[in-house]
Amino acid sequence: MSERKRVLSGVRPTGPLHLGHYAGALENWVKLQRKYDCSFLIADYQVSDYADDVPRVRNAVWQVALDWLAAGLEPERASFVIESMVPEHAELMLWLTWFLPVGMLERNPTLKAEMQAIENPEDAKTKGKSVPVAFYIYPVMQVANILLSRAHLVPVGEDQLAHLELAREMARRFNREFKPIFPEPEALLGRAPRLVGTDGNAKMSKSRGNTIDLKDSAETVAKKVRRMYGGPPRGAKEPGKVEDNPIFLYLDAFDHDAAQVQNLKERYERTGVSSQELKDRLTIVLNELLEPMRERRTKYESNLSLVREALEQGTKRARTIARETMEMVRDALDLNYLRSTNVRSGDLPGPSQ
Ligand code: TRP
Repeated sequence: MSERKRVLSGVRPTGPLHLGHYAGALENWVKLQRKYDCSFLIADYQVSDYADDVPRVRNAVWQVALDWLAAGLEPERASFVIESMVPEHAELMLWLTWFLPVGMLERNPTLKAEMQAIENPEDAKTKGKSVPVAFYIYPVMQVANILLSRAHLVPVGEDQLAHLELAREMARRFNREFKPIFPEPEALLGRAPRLVGTDGNAKMSKSRGNTIDLKDSAETVAKKVRRMYGGPPRGAKEPGKVEDNPIFLYLDAFDHDAAQVQNLKERYERTGVSSQELKDRLTIVLNELLEPMRERRTKYESNLSLVREALEQGTKRARTIARETMEMVRDALDLNYLRSTNVRSGDLPGPSQ
């Protein structure tokens, strides 16, 4: 196989992807697929907080694959993998849990925050849920994803760094105590680590209803931008502070004409620029970005067999690598009980010391 470094990343199938996913990950993945041996995972084992809504998960698996194709991932270059259809992920995770002290999960800041959010939703309208065991151990599943593919590089958002550190630690430990199988995976951070929501909230997320989705029509984008939070109230000709207005964060993230953005910022702080002008500009910029995606999406939506094929081929390829890795893991842990026993001698195998 190729000498190129292996890249693995993934997303949980919870619904259609939005601009936050694009800026934080997808845009980067599209570039990486040209240079590296890339696999991208639809992590359906890791949506246990949606366990009461499997039809939604199933739909999201397809939505994610469509969004990936629309965004420019090419199945000829990058494997699209459905996690649960490579059950070796679960198998490796279970062996890994043998060597993982409970304290390491208890101290994981990302996991702590997410469990908090499930138990005490901040909108206070919905009732909190209890956290499933599967959710508690999802960081270990993510470690298994990374190690199973023997990835060298893992493009992730900032919030995933704690999990990546866990993967590095597990790789080092396994390599030291058993056999050196796993590359120590390195994080690759995206260009825009986190995009604020259209309501100005710190994170774009479906549950807050503050997303702009990659599949939104031009009209929907225009409408969402019109309603966007543009900083504290201010007269059209009143100067404002750039830091207070999230519209500039979007322009910074998506407008290729940096000089024009700079010019807008200067005018905004000096003489004021109407919200209308800013929003018109942003609408144009976003629709320019999304239009080619909409076209590709339409093409694939009318030929879903291509989507299925991408998922099937990618998953099959991942499974080959997975079997190879599991073979090495079993060998390193000396788990091939039947193979190592010399039946003809008539002796049961004894303890190793
Ligand atoms: N947990 C990641 C997220 O929520 C998604 C993910 C699953 C992932 N498996 C992965 C990311 C493996 C990187 C590598 O964004």
